[in-house]
Amino acid sequence: MKPISILILAAGKGTRMKSSLPKVLHPVCGIPMVERVVRTGQFVRPSSVCVVVGHGGEQVKQVIHQKFPKTQFVSQSVQDGSGGAVRQALSWLKKQKGLVLLACGDAPLISAQSFKELIHAHVKDNNRATVLTTKMPNPYGYGRILRSKDGSVEKIVEHLDANPRELEINEINTGTYCFDAAALAHVIPKLKNNNVKKEYYLTDTLELLRQEGGRIGGLICVDPDETMGINSRAELAKAEIALYRRKAEALMAAGVTIVDPKSTYVADTVKVGSDTVLWPQTFLLGQTKVGSGCQIGPWAHIQDTQIENRVIFQSSFSEGALIRSGARVGPYSRVRPGSEVGRNAHLGNFSEIKKSTLGEGSKANHLTYLGDATIGKNVNIGAGTITCNYDGVKKYPTQIQDNAFIGSNVNLIAPVRVGAHAVVGAGSSINKDVPAWSLALERSVQVTKKNWAKASKRKGKK
Ligand code: UD1
Ligand code: MG
Repeated sequence: MKPISILILAAGKGTRMKSSLPKVLHPVCGIPMVERVVRTGQFVRPSSVCVVVGHGGEQVKQVIHQKFPKTQFVSQSVQDGSGGAVRQALSWLKKQKGLVLLACGDAPLISAQSFKELIHAHVKDNNRATVLTTKMPNPYGYGRILRSKDGSVEKIVEHLDANPRELEINEINTGTYCFDAAALAHVIPKLKNNNVKKEYYLTDTLELLRQEGGRIGGLICVDPDETMGINSRAELAKAEIALYRRKAEALMAAGVTIVDPKSTYVADTVKVGSDTVLWPQTFLLGQTKVGSGCQIGPWAHIQDTQIENRVIFQSSFSEGALIRSGARVGPYSRVRPGSEVGRNAHLGNFSEIKKSTLGEGSKANHLTYLGDATIGKNVNIGAGTITCNYDGVKKYPTQIQDNAFIGSNVNLIAPVRVGAHAVVGAGSSINKDVPAWSLALERSVQVTKKNWAKASKRKGKK
Protein backbone atom coordinates (compact mmCIF):
# COMPACT_ATOMS: atom_id res chain seq x y z
CA MET A 1 0.00 0.00 0.00
CA LYS A 2 1.30 3.43 -0.97
CA PRO A 3 1.61 6.05 1.78
CA ILE A 4 -1.25 8.55 1.87
CA SER A 5 -1.11 12.17 2.85
CA ILE A 6 -3.97 14.64 3.09
CA LEU A 7 -4.26 18.20 1.87
CA ILE A 8 -7.26 20.22 3.07
CA LEU A 9 -8.22 23.46 1.40
CA ALA A 10 -9.61 25.92 3.89
CA ALA A 11 -8.56 29.38 2.78
CA GLY A 12 -11.88 30.40 1.21
CA LYS A 13 -13.46 33.55 2.56
CA GLY A 14 -16.98 32.45 3.45
CA THR A 15 -18.48 35.88 2.80
CA ARG A 16 -22.02 34.52 2.81
CA MET A 17 -21.76 33.37 6.41
CA LYS A 18 -21.71 37.05 7.44
CA SER A 19 -19.66 36.13 10.47
CA SER A 20 -16.62 37.30 12.38
CA LEU A 21 -15.71 33.64 12.83
CA PRO A 22 -13.85 32.06 9.87
CA LYS A 23 -16.31 29.92 7.93
CA VAL A 24 -14.48 26.64 8.45
CA LEU A 25 -14.59 27.13 12.24
CA HIS A 26 -18.37 27.17 12.40
CA PRO A 27 -19.36 24.06 14.32
CA VAL A 28 -21.56 21.32 12.91
CA CYS A 29 -23.02 19.28 15.76
CA GLY A 30 -20.48 20.81 18.11
CA ILE A 31 -17.29 20.32 16.06
CA PRO A 32 -15.79 22.99 13.79
CA MET A 33 -16.26 21.89 10.19
CA VAL A 34 -12.58 21.83 9.26
CA GLU A 35 -11.80 19.83 12.41
CA ARG A 36 -14.37 17.29 11.26
CA VAL A 37 -12.55 16.88 7.95
CA VAL A 38 -9.19 16.44 9.72
CA ARG A 39 -10.81 13.95 12.11
CA THR A 40 -12.37 11.91 9.29
CA GLY A 41 -9.04 11.94 7.49
CA GLN A 42 -7.40 10.12 10.41
CA PHE A 43 -9.23 6.95 9.36
CA VAL A 44 -7.01 6.55 6.29
CA ARG A 45 -3.94 6.73 8.55
CA PRO A 46 -2.24 9.59 6.73
CA SER A 47 1.51 9.99 6.91
CA SER A 48 1.07 13.77 6.89
CA VAL A 49 -1.83 16.26 6.98
CA CYS A 50 -1.52 19.79 5.66
CA VAL A 51 -4.18 22.51 5.79
CA VAL A 52 -4.16 25.58 3.57
CA VAL A 53 -5.46 28.52 5.61
CA GLY A 54 -6.30 32.06 4.63
CA HIS A 55 -9.05 34.04 6.28
CA GLY A 56 -8.64 33.95 10.05
CA GLY A 57 -5.69 31.63 9.45
CA GLU A 58 -4.20 31.98 12.92
CA GLN A 59 -7.50 31.10 14.57
CA VAL A 60 -8.01 28.11 12.26
CA LYS A 61 -4.48 26.87 12.99
CA GLN A 62 -5.01 27.15 16.74
CA VAL A 63 -8.23 25.15 16.71
CA ILE A 64 -6.80 22.31 14.61
CA HIS A 65 -3.45 22.31 16.40
CA GLN A 66 -5.14 21.78 19.77
CA LYS A 67 -6.65 18.47 18.67
CA PHE A 68 -4.20 17.37 15.99
CA PRO A 69 -0.81 18.83 16.90
CA LYS A 70 1.03 17.10 14.05
CA THR A 71 -0.96 18.97 11.39
CA GLN A 72 1.05 21.22 9.11
CA PHE A 73 -0.17 24.54 7.76
CA VAL A 74 0.52 26.79 4.81
CA SER A 75 -0.99 30.21 4.23
CA GLN A 76 -2.60 31.51 1.11
CA SER A 77 -2.76 35.28 1.47
CA VAL A 78 -4.30 36.01 -1.94
CA GLN A 79 -7.28 33.81 -2.69
CA ASP A 80 -6.66 33.14 -6.36
CA GLY A 81 -8.47 29.82 -6.60
CA SER A 82 -8.35 26.22 -5.47
CA GLY A 83 -5.32 25.61 -7.74
CA GLY A 84 -3.64 28.64 -6.20
CA ALA A 85 -4.25 27.14 -2.77
CA VAL A 86 -2.49 23.91 -3.73
CA ARG A 87 0.39 25.92 -5.21
CA GLN A 88 1.00 27.42 -1.77
CA ALA A 89 1.43 23.86 -0.49
CA LEU A 90 3.80 22.88 -3.29
CA SER A 91 6.92 22.44 -1.17
CA TRP A 92 4.93 20.22 1.25
CA LEU A 93 3.47 18.33 -1.72
CA LYS A 94 6.89 17.63 -3.22
CA LYS A 95 7.92 15.86 -0.03
CA GLN A 96 4.94 13.49 -0.14
CA LYS A 97 5.47 10.04 -1.50
CA GLY A 98 2.59 7.99 -2.82
CA LEU A 99 -0.92 9.41 -2.85
CA VAL A 100 -2.46 12.64 -1.73
CA LEU A 101 -6.10 12.90 -0.71
CA LEU A 102 -7.43 16.37 -1.30
CA ALA A 103 -10.53 17.56 0.55
CA CYS A 104 -12.36 20.79 1.30
CA GLY A 105 -12.48 22.23 4.80
CA ASP A 106 -16.05 23.38 4.22
CA ALA A 107 -17.47 19.95 3.35
CA PRO A 108 -17.64 18.38 6.83
CA LEU A 109 -20.05 15.53 6.18
CA ILE A 110 -17.72 13.45 4.06
CA SER A 111 -17.37 9.95 5.51
CA ALA A 112 -14.25 7.90 6.13
CA GLN A 113 -15.85 5.22 3.97
CA SER A 114 -15.92 7.58 0.96
CA PHE A 115 -12.27 8.54 1.52
CA LYS A 116 -11.34 4.87 1.59
CA GLU A 117 -13.41 3.98 -1.48
CA LEU A 118 -11.89 6.87 -3.40
CA ILE A 119 -8.37 5.70 -2.61
CA HIS A 120 -9.31 2.13 -3.46
CA ALA A 121 -10.78 3.11 -6.86
CA HIS A 122 -7.71 5.22 -7.59
CA VAL A 123 -5.32 2.36 -6.95
CA LYS A 124 -7.47 -0.33 -8.60
CA ASP A 125 -7.88 1.62 -11.87
CA ASN A 126 -4.29 2.77 -11.88
CA ASN A 127 -5.37 6.42 -12.15
CA ARG A 128 -3.21 9.53 -12.00
CA ALA A 129 -6.15 11.33 -10.41
CA THR A 130 -9.58 10.26 -9.21
CA VAL A 131 -12.34 12.69 -8.41
CA LEU A 132 -15.26 12.00 -6.08
CA THR A 133 -18.42 12.95 -7.92
CA THR A 134 -22.10 12.85 -7.16
CA LYS A 135 -25.33 13.25 -9.06
CA MET A 136 -27.52 16.19 -8.18
CA PRO A 137 -31.04 16.97 -9.32
CA ASN A 138 -30.01 20.63 -9.37
CA PRO A 139 -26.30 20.88 -10.21
CA TYR A 140 -26.34 24.68 -10.37
CA GLY A 141 -23.04 26.27 -9.42
CA TYR A 142 -20.95 23.10 -9.38
CA GLY A 143 -18.22 21.96 -11.74
CA ARG A 144 -19.62 19.40 -14.24
CA ILE A 145 -17.95 16.06 -14.91
CA LEU A 146 -17.26 15.30 -18.57
CA ARG A 147 -16.78 11.58 -19.15
CA SER A 148 -15.23 9.95 -22.18
CA LYS A 149 -16.61 6.82 -23.83
CA ASP A 150 -14.45 4.48 -21.78
CA GLY A 151 -15.99 5.89 -18.59
CA SER A 152 -12.93 7.77 -17.45
CA VAL A 153 -13.10 11.49 -16.74
CA GLU A 154 -12.07 13.81 -19.53
CA LYS A 155 -12.25 17.07 -17.64
CA ILE A 156 -14.26 19.24 -15.26
CA VAL A 157 -15.96 22.35 -16.54
CA GLU A 158 -16.84 25.00 -14.00
CA HIS A 159 -20.43 26.24 -14.03
CA LEU A 160 -19.51 29.73 -15.19
CA ASP A 161 -17.38 28.37 -18.02
CA ALA A 162 -19.82 25.68 -19.20
CA ASN A 163 -21.78 25.74 -22.45
CA PRO A 164 -25.54 24.97 -22.45
CA ARG A 165 -24.98 21.29 -23.26
CA GLU A 166 -22.45 20.90 -20.43
CA LEU A 167 -24.80 22.67 -18.03
CA GLU A 168 -27.27 19.82 -18.49
CA ILE A 169 -24.84 17.31 -16.99
CA ASN A 170 -25.93 16.45 -13.46
CA GLU A 171 -22.79 14.63 -12.34
CA ILE A 172 -20.75 17.16 -10.41
CA ASN A 173 -17.36 17.58 -8.78
CA THR A 174 -17.60 17.29 -5.01
CA GLY A 175 -14.18 18.88 -4.49
CA THR A 176 -12.63 15.70 -3.07
CA TYR A 177 -9.85 14.00 -5.03
CA CYS A 178 -7.09 11.43 -4.88
CA PHE A 179 -3.90 12.23 -6.78
CA ASP A 180 -0.53 10.67 -7.30
CA ALA A 181 1.40 13.21 -5.26
CA ALA A 182 4.27 13.59 -7.72
CA ALA A 183 1.91 13.97 -10.71
CA LEU A 184 -0.05 16.73 -8.94
CA ALA A 185 3.14 18.54 -7.96
CA HIS A 186 4.26 18.32 -11.57
CA VAL A 187 1.14 19.97 -13.09
CA ILE A 188 0.31 22.61 -10.49
CA PRO A 189 2.87 25.13 -11.83
CA LYS A 190 1.31 24.73 -15.28
CA LEU A 191 -2.14 26.02 -14.28
CA LYS A 192 -3.41 29.14 -16.05
CA ASN A 193 -6.15 31.51 -14.96
CA ASN A 194 -7.72 32.10 -18.36
CA ASN A 195 -11.30 31.55 -17.22
CA VAL A 196 -14.32 33.64 -16.27
CA LYS A 197 -13.24 34.03 -12.61
CA LYS A 198 -9.57 34.65 -13.43
CA GLU A 199 -8.68 32.00 -10.86
CA TYR A 200 -6.29 29.08 -10.87
CA TYR A 201 -8.64 26.11 -10.95
CA LEU A 202 -7.48 22.90 -9.32
CA THR A 203 -9.96 21.14 -11.59
CA ASP A 204 -7.83 22.00 -14.62
CA THR A 205 -5.09 19.67 -13.35
CA LEU A 206 -7.22 16.70 -14.43
CA GLU A 207 -7.18 17.68 -18.09
CA LEU A 208 -3.44 18.41 -17.90
CA LEU A 209 -2.72 15.00 -16.41
CA ARG A 210 -4.85 13.35 -19.03
CA GLN A 211 -3.01 15.15 -21.82
CA GLU A 212 0.19 13.69 -20.40
CA GLY A 213 -1.26 10.21 -20.82
CA GLY A 214 -2.59 9.58 -17.31
CA ARG A 215 -5.98 8.03 -16.65
CA ILE A 216 -8.48 10.14 -14.66
CA GLY A 217 -11.18 8.31 -12.75
CA GLY A 218 -14.46 9.47 -11.27
CA LEU A 219 -16.07 7.68 -8.34
CA ILE A 220 -19.73 8.43 -7.72
CA CYS A 221 -20.65 9.03 -4.09
CA VAL A 222 -24.20 7.72 -3.68
CA ASP A 223 -25.15 10.02 -0.82
CA PRO A 224 -25.07 13.65 -2.04
CA ASP A 225 -25.56 14.81 1.59
CA GLU A 226 -22.02 13.67 2.34
CA THR A 227 -20.50 15.98 -0.19
CA MET A 228 -22.47 19.05 0.86
CA GLY A 229 -20.30 22.15 0.94
CA ILE A 230 -21.25 24.88 3.38
CA ASN A 231 -21.31 28.48 2.27
CA SER A 232 -24.22 29.97 4.20
CA ARG A 233 -26.07 29.62 7.50
CA ALA A 234 -28.92 27.89 5.67
CA GLU A 235 -26.49 25.25 4.38
CA LEU A 236 -24.99 24.98 7.86
CA ALA A 237 -28.45 24.13 9.25
CA LYS A 238 -29.00 21.57 6.48
CA ALA A 239 -25.68 19.89 7.28
CA GLU A 240 -26.41 19.80 10.99
CA ILE A 241 -29.84 18.25 10.44
CA ALA A 242 -28.33 15.72 8.01
CA LEU A 243 -25.83 14.64 10.69
CA TYR A 244 -28.55 14.29 13.34
CA ARG A 245 -30.64 12.18 10.95
CA ARG A 246 -27.68 9.96 10.11
CA LYS A 247 -27.00 9.43 13.81
CA ALA A 248 -30.66 8.74 14.64
CA GLU A 249 -30.81 6.06 11.96
CA ALA A 250 -27.64 4.41 13.22
CA LEU A 251 -28.96 4.42 16.80
CA MET A 252 -32.32 2.95 15.83
CA ALA A 253 -30.55 0.24 13.85
CA ALA A 254 -28.55 -0.52 17.02
CA GLY A 255 -31.65 -0.95 19.20
CA VAL A 256 -32.41 2.52 20.54
CA THR A 257 -36.03 3.69 20.42
CA ILE A 258 -36.40 7.23 19.15
CA VAL A 259 -40.02 8.27 19.45
CA ASP A 260 -39.69 11.16 17.00
CA PRO A 261 -36.36 11.32 15.15
CA LYS A 262 -37.23 14.72 13.71
CA SER A 263 -37.21 16.32 17.14
CA THR A 264 -34.36 14.34 18.70
CA TYR A 265 -30.84 15.69 18.40
CA VAL A 266 -28.01 13.27 19.11
CA ALA A 267 -24.53 14.39 18.06
CA ASP A 268 -22.41 11.81 16.27
CA THR A 269 -19.93 11.89 19.16
CA VAL A 270 -22.52 10.42 21.55
CA LYS A 271 -23.04 6.75 22.50
CA VAL A 272 -26.41 5.31 23.50
CA GLY A 273 -27.06 1.75 24.70
CA SER A 274 -29.81 -0.52 23.43
CA ASP A 275 -33.38 -0.43 24.78
CA THR A 276 -32.97 3.15 25.81
CA VAL A 277 -35.91 5.34 24.79
CA LEU A 278 -35.30 8.87 23.60
CA TRP A 279 -38.42 11.01 23.84
CA PRO A 280 -38.97 14.13 21.72
CA GLN A 281 -36.94 17.28 22.29
CA THR A 282 -33.96 15.42 23.60
CA PHE A 283 -30.49 16.83 22.96
CA LEU A 284 -27.53 14.54 23.60
CA LEU A 285 -24.34 16.45 22.89
CA GLY A 286 -20.56 16.37 23.15
CA GLN A 287 -18.98 13.37 24.83
CA THR A 288 -22.22 12.10 26.33
CA LYS A 289 -22.65 8.38 26.93
CA VAL A 290 -26.00 6.85 27.82
CA GLY A 291 -26.35 3.24 28.96
CA SER A 292 -29.10 0.70 28.33
CA GLY A 293 -32.73 0.72 29.35
CA CYS A 294 -32.85 4.45 30.10
CA GLN A 295 -35.78 6.80 29.54
CA ILE A 296 -34.49 10.16 28.38
CA GLY A 297 -36.80 13.13 27.85
CA PRO A 298 -39.12 14.49 26.79
CA TRP A 299 -37.19 17.76 26.92
CA ALA A 300 -33.69 16.80 27.98
CA HIS A 301 -30.50 18.73 27.33
CA ILE A 302 -27.51 16.58 28.15
CA GLN A 303 -23.93 17.56 27.41
CA ASP A 304 -20.69 15.69 28.19
CA THR A 305 -22.47 13.50 30.72
CA GLN A 306 -22.04 9.82 31.55
CA ILE A 307 -25.36 8.14 32.21
CA GLU A 308 -25.35 4.52 33.32
CA ASN A 309 -28.23 2.04 32.90
CA ARG A 310 -31.96 2.33 33.67
CA VAL A 311 -31.79 6.04 34.40
CA ILE A 312 -34.92 8.17 34.10
CA PHE A 313 -34.09 11.70 33.03
CA GLN A 314 -36.99 14.04 32.28
CA SER A 315 -37.22 17.72 31.34
CA SER A 316 -33.82 18.57 32.79
CA PHE A 317 -30.34 19.82 32.01
CA SER A 318 -27.04 18.11 32.67
CA GLU A 319 -23.49 19.04 31.83
CA GLY A 320 -20.18 17.37 32.72
CA ALA A 321 -21.76 14.97 35.21
CA LEU A 322 -22.11 11.31 36.10
CA ILE A 323 -25.52 9.78 36.67
CA ARG A 324 -25.39 6.27 38.00
CA SER A 325 -27.65 3.28 37.32
CA GLY A 326 -31.25 3.46 38.43
CA ALA A 327 -31.09 7.15 39.28
CA ARG A 328 -33.98 9.52 38.57
CA VAL A 329 -33.45 13.11 37.53
CA GLY A 330 -36.18 15.68 37.03
CA PRO A 331 -38.52 16.92 36.01
CA TYR A 332 -36.90 20.36 36.06
CA SER A 333 -33.51 19.57 37.57
CA ARG A 334 -30.18 21.06 36.71
CA VAL A 335 -27.11 18.88 37.04
CA ARG A 336 -23.99 21.02 36.79
CA PRO A 337 -20.35 20.07 36.07
CA GLY A 338 -18.54 17.88 38.55
CA SER A 339 -21.69 16.32 39.96
CA GLU A 340 -22.50 12.71 40.58
CA VAL A 341 -26.02 11.41 41.12
CA GLY A 342 -25.55 8.01 42.78
CA ARG A 343 -27.16 4.64 42.14
CA ASN A 344 -30.94 4.77 42.63
CA ALA A 345 -30.67 8.34 43.90
CA HIS A 346 -33.39 10.88 43.12
CA LEU A 347 -32.82 14.46 42.18
CA GLY A 348 -36.25 15.91 41.83
CA ASN A 349 -38.33 18.83 40.86
CA PHE A 350 -36.61 22.21 40.69
CA SER A 351 -33.38 20.95 42.23
CA GLU A 352 -29.88 21.99 41.31
CA ILE A 353 -26.68 20.14 42.02
CA LYS A 354 -23.19 21.54 41.43
CA LYS A 355 -19.81 19.87 42.02
CA SER A 356 -21.50 17.56 44.50
CA THR A 357 -22.15 13.91 45.06
CA LEU A 358 -25.58 12.62 45.96
CA GLY A 359 -24.87 9.14 47.31
CA GLU A 360 -26.56 5.84 46.54
CA GLY A 361 -30.27 5.81 47.34
CA SER A 362 -30.26 9.41 48.58
CA LYS A 363 -33.10 11.77 47.71
CA ALA A 364 -33.34 15.48 47.09
CA ASN A 365 -36.79 15.49 45.68
CA HIS A 366 -37.91 19.09 45.78
CA LEU A 367 -36.60 22.65 45.43
CA THR A 368 -33.04 22.16 46.62
CA TYR A 369 -29.60 23.60 45.92
CA LEU A 370 -26.63 21.33 46.57
CA GLY A 371 -23.28 22.98 45.90
CA ASP A 372 -19.81 21.66 46.84
CA ALA A 373 -21.51 18.98 48.92
CA THR A 374 -20.65 15.36 49.58
CA ILE A 375 -23.74 13.46 50.51
CA GLY A 376 -23.56 9.85 51.63
CA LYS A 377 -25.97 6.96 51.15
CA ASN A 378 -29.70 6.97 51.93
CA VAL A 379 -29.76 10.59 52.98
CA ASN A 380 -33.03 12.48 52.80
CA ILE A 381 -32.78 16.12 51.84
CA GLY A 382 -36.01 17.93 52.68
CA ALA A 383 -37.80 20.32 50.37
CA GLY A 384 -36.25 23.77 50.17
CA THR A 385 -32.89 22.76 51.66
CA ILE A 386 -29.96 24.89 50.58
CA THR A 387 -26.24 24.43 51.00
CA CYS A 388 -24.97 27.95 51.63
CA ASN A 389 -21.60 27.30 50.03
CA TYR A 390 -20.57 30.86 49.15
CA ASP A 391 -19.89 33.82 51.40
CA GLY A 392 -19.40 36.18 48.49
CA VAL A 393 -15.65 35.55 48.41
CA LYS A 394 -14.94 31.84 48.77
CA LYS A 395 -16.75 28.54 48.34
CA TYR A 396 -16.94 26.04 51.21
CA PRO A 397 -17.82 22.33 51.39
CA THR A 398 -20.74 20.62 53.09
CA GLN A 399 -20.62 16.99 54.19
CA ILE A 400 -23.69 14.94 54.99
CA GLN A 401 -23.00 11.37 56.05
CA ASP A 402 -24.96 8.15 55.47
CA ASN A 403 -28.58 7.90 56.63
CA ALA A 404 -28.78 11.50 57.85
CA PHE A 405 -32.16 13.21 57.63
CA ILE A 406 -32.31 16.89 56.71
CA GLY A 407 -35.73 18.41 57.32
CA SER A 408 -37.39 20.90 55.03
CA ASN A 409 -36.14 24.43 54.51
CA VAL A 410 -32.79 23.91 56.15
CA ASN A 411 -29.82 26.21 55.48
CA LEU A 412 -26.53 24.35 55.75
CA ILE A 413 -23.99 27.12 56.19
CA ALA A 414 -20.71 25.74 54.91
CA PRO A 415 -18.18 24.63 55.89
CA VAL A 416 -20.30 22.24 57.91
CA ARG A 417 -20.68 18.52 58.51
CA VAL A 418 -23.73 16.48 59.45
CA GLY A 419 -22.81 13.07 60.87
CA ALA A 420 -24.32 9.69 60.03
CA HIS A 421 -27.91 9.09 61.21
CA ALA A 422 -28.16 12.69 62.48
CA VAL A 423 -31.41 14.60 62.12
CA VAL A 424 -31.71 18.31 61.36
CA GLY A 425 -35.06 19.85 62.20
CA ALA A 426 -37.04 21.70 59.57
CA GLY A 427 -36.36 25.40 59.20
CA SER A 428 -32.93 25.29 60.89
CA SER A 429 -29.92 27.32 59.84
CA ILE A 430 -26.99 25.07 60.69
CA ASN A 431 -23.47 26.47 60.96
CA LYS A 432 -21.93 24.05 63.47
CA ASP A 433 -21.11 20.41 62.81
CA VAL A 434 -23.80 17.95 63.88
CA PRO A 435 -22.42 14.73 65.44
CA ALA A 436 -23.70 11.32 64.36
CA TRP A 437 -27.10 10.23 65.74
CA SER A 438 -27.85 13.73 67.13
CA LEU A 439 -30.79 16.05 66.54
CA ALA A 440 -29.92 19.61 65.62
CA LEU A 441 -32.64 22.21 65.81
CA GLU A 442 -32.27 25.92 65.25
CA ARG A 443 -35.54 27.79 65.30
CA SER A 444 -37.31 30.09 67.76
CA VAL A 445 -39.80 28.57 70.13
CA GLN A 446 -43.34 28.75 68.88
CA VAL A 447 -45.67 31.04 70.81
CA THR A 448 -49.35 30.10 70.86
CA LYS A 449 -51.90 32.48 72.45
CA LYS A 450 -55.20 30.79 73.01
CA ASN A 451 -58.29 32.64 71.72
CA TRP A 452 -56.09 35.56 70.70
CA ALA A 453 -57.91 36.04 67.45
CA LYS A 454 -61.28 36.33 69.16
CA ALA A 455 -60.08 39.19 71.35
CA SER A 456 -58.30 41.09 68.60
CA LYS A 457 -59.74 43.40 66.00
CA ARG A 458 -60.13 40.43 63.73
CA LYS A 459 -63.17 39.70 65.81
CA GLY A 460 -66.29 40.08 63.75
CA LYS A 461 -64.48 39.36 60.46
CA LYS A 462 -65.77 36.39 58.63
C1 UD1 B 1 -15.15 24.08 -6.41
C2 UD1 B 1 -14.77 23.32 -7.67
C3 UD1 B 1 -16.05 22.81 -8.34
C4 UD1 B 1 -16.81 21.94 -7.36
C5 UD1 B 1 -17.07 22.67 -6.04
C6 UD1 B 1 -17.60 21.71 -5.01
C7 UD1 B 1 -12.79 24.47 -8.46
C8 UD1 B 1 -12.21 25.37 -9.47
N1 UD1 B 1 -14.06 24.22 -8.56
O1 UD1 B 1 -15.92 25.20 -6.81
O2 UD1 B 1 -15.71 22.08 -9.48
O3 UD1 B 1 -18.02 21.52 -7.95
O4 UD1 B 1 -15.85 23.23 -5.51
O5 UD1 B 1 -18.01 22.39 -3.87
O6 UD1 B 1 -12.08 24.02 -7.60
N2 UD1 B 1 -10.14 27.57 -1.69
C9 UD1 B 1 -8.94 28.02 -1.18
N3 UD1 B 1 -8.36 29.08 -1.76
C10 UD1 B 1 -8.89 29.74 -2.81
C11 UD1 B 1 -10.11 29.28 -3.31
C12 UD1 B 1 -10.70 28.19 -2.75
O7 UD1 B 1 -8.43 27.46 -0.21
O8 UD1 B 1 -8.28 30.70 -3.28
C13 UD1 B 1 -10.76 26.40 -1.08
C14 UD1 B 1 -12.09 26.74 -0.45
O9 UD1 B 1 -11.92 27.07 0.93
C15 UD1 B 1 -12.87 25.46 -0.62
C16 UD1 B 1 -12.29 24.86 -1.90
O10 UD1 B 1 -11.04 25.48 -2.10
O11 UD1 B 1 -12.60 24.56 0.43
C17 UD1 B 1 -13.18 25.07 -3.10
O12 UD1 B 1 -13.27 26.45 -3.36
P1 UD1 B 1 -14.63 27.21 -3.66
O13 UD1 B 1 -14.37 28.64 -3.79
O14 UD1 B 1 -15.68 26.77 -2.74
O15 UD1 B 1 -14.90 26.64 -5.12
P2 UD1 B 1 -16.26 26.45 -5.84
O16 UD1 B 1 -16.49 27.61 -6.73
O17 UD1 B 1 -17.31 26.08 -4.89
MG1 MG C 1 -17.56 25.95 -2.77
